[in-house]
Amino acid sequence: MADNRVLTEVLRQLVDTFSYIDPGLVPYIADQLNLSKAEVLGVISFYEDFRTDKPPAHVIRICQAEACQAVGARQLIEHSHTEKYSGLDDIEIGTVSCLGLCACGPALICNNNVYGKVNTSKFDSLIHSLARHK
Ligand code: FES
Repeated sequence: MADNRVLTEVLRQLVDTFSYIDPGLVPYIADQLNLSKAEVLGVISFYEDFRTDKPPAHVIRICQAEACQAVGARQLIEHSHTEKYSGLDDIEIGTVSCLGLCACGPALICNNNVYGKVNTSKFDSLIHSLARHK
């Protein structure tokens, strides 16, 4: 049986390269690492970053950890769920637990770029700039 660190690294490489893990690769990965398909799927489902669906053009994750909550992350998350941002086809908005930018919260990551001190106005500007770059 392969070490789960090897499996995790393989899955991370796939996500880094393709942005998601094609479910059709699970049997091949399992076979190559001498694991069951259930073991591979178990690791994929455990980590939020290991998605099996192709992501939209833009992915935003707002930090919901304590330091960011203390400076307004909850309000920012609520703002991101308002009607004006629901149903955006090319933008997915979700949450994440700590981006390592705790002193500059609320923080978010968008397409692998981290932003700090994000208020609702800055969030709106970011969304509008993404919408312009479709
Ligand atoms: S708590 Fe938000 S970046 Fe660490």
